[in-house]
Amino acid sequence: MDQRQFFSSDFKLGILGGGQLGKMLLYDTIRYDIFTKVMDPDQNAACKSICNEFVVGDLTNYDDVINFCKDVDVVTIEIENVNTDALEYLEKIGKNVYPSSSTLRIIQNKSIQKDFYRTNNLPTSDYKNYSEVSAILEDYKSGNIALPAVWKSAQFGYDGKGVKIVKNLSDLESLPNLDCLIEQKVNIKKEISVIVARNQREERCFPVTEMEFNEDSNLVEYIMCPADISKETEKKALAIAINIAKKINCIGLLAVELFVTDQDEILINEVAPRPHNSGHHTIECCLTSQFDQHVRCILNLPLGSTKIKIPGVMVNLVGENKIEGDVIYKNIEKILDIPGVSTHFYGKKKSRLNRKMGHITVVNKDVNTAIEAGRKIKKTVKVTSIK
Ligand SMILES: Nc1ncnc2c1ncn2[C@@H]1O[C@H](COP(=O)(O)OP(=O)(O)OP(=O)(O)O)[C@@H](O)[C@H]1O
Ligand SMILES: [Mg+2]
Repeated sequence: MDQRQFFSSDFKLGILGGGQLGKMLLYDTIRYDIFTKVMDPDQNAACKSICNEFVVGDLTNYDDVINFCKDVDVVTIEIENVNTDALEYLEKIGKNVYPSSSTLRIIQNKSIQKDFYRTNNLPTSDYKNYSEVSAILEDYKSGNIALPAVWKSAQFGYDGKGVKIVKNLSDLESLPNLDCLIEQKVNIKKEISVIVARNQREERCFPVTEMEFNEDSNLVEYIMCPADISKETEKKALAIAINIAKKINCIGLLAVELFVTDQDEILINEVAPRPHNSGHHTIECCLTSQFDQHVRCILNLPLGSTKIKIPGVMVNLVGENKIEGDVIYKNIEKILDIPGVSTHFYGKKKSRLNRKMGHITVVNKDVNTAIEAGRKIKKTVKVTSIK
């Protein structure tokens, strides 16, 4: 492809999904002056007002995806749950689809993803796939499952929703009858993430970040950059992440979520082939943001430097109100004067419990000062609908 034709031209980039990841990707396509067309089932999706063309459609419907992609030059995604049969057809007729249908198929299903790690000798926790609860109970009764363990739905889990820690027989008995896996519960010392960017010639990693989760919701609460890990752990994490990105043949971004165990072993938890929550801080902290880098990857442009400009912490803003209602960002004015703060609101009018509504990044040349400010922000700002 002739690179000059992407910018200020009739080149069209198609994006499947119009949520906050798409919105942040559009900040960069606007800078590059790339024409964008976005599809999302929600007619009020975050991207609607900032893309060049917006289509309401079902991302999992074959015909909707085909029709949407007819007049675009390159197709990408901001959510993995899209119709891969449609993408495969588009690839066959010569469209550029990144990530590819075959990469997406492995990632869409956690059982297939785990099998992929096992087949390719990539380090991950022990697991077994199941299609019925009765088979899990049988395995437990014959002593083949040690509790506590982790149950995961094979498909459609996100934001910790398809994940349960199972501690006893009654937890096992109350599991839903779905395709699922039971994983060995890992003794986690730290959860870290590496985002790998790959075009058709080279790959580059963003610096390793550390993720801190909310214990009740299982949602990421803070991302710290850089991670507080040894050089050796860093080196191992980067090598594992590059290895998967190559083996899974991902063009674009691949976010690799890793566990550092109490024995300092590194295990892969899961991967996502798109911009990721653990990379939002790159907008302020790195020389190139994950979104800019994704654009470069899928257009096969030279990749940008991922070096840290300044350390920082990202704080997720999630809804705290149990009953859905119009969002209020309570006390936001109290934290805006902290040096190095940037706020990102995703454009969702309604807040509800644990819905990701925005995030705040705070940068500081001393990461511990940033962490302290991040904790203050979390305590002060309340996302709710209750006045
Ligand atoms: N085998 C395991 N042992 C211990 N804890 C685990 C294990 N698997 C998952 N967890 C915990 O549950 C969290 C969510 O798991 P996972 O990332 O698989 O789910 P998810 O629904 O895809 O979440 P998200 O979309 O937020 O990334 C992990 O970040 C980790 O804290
Ligand atoms: Mg996860």
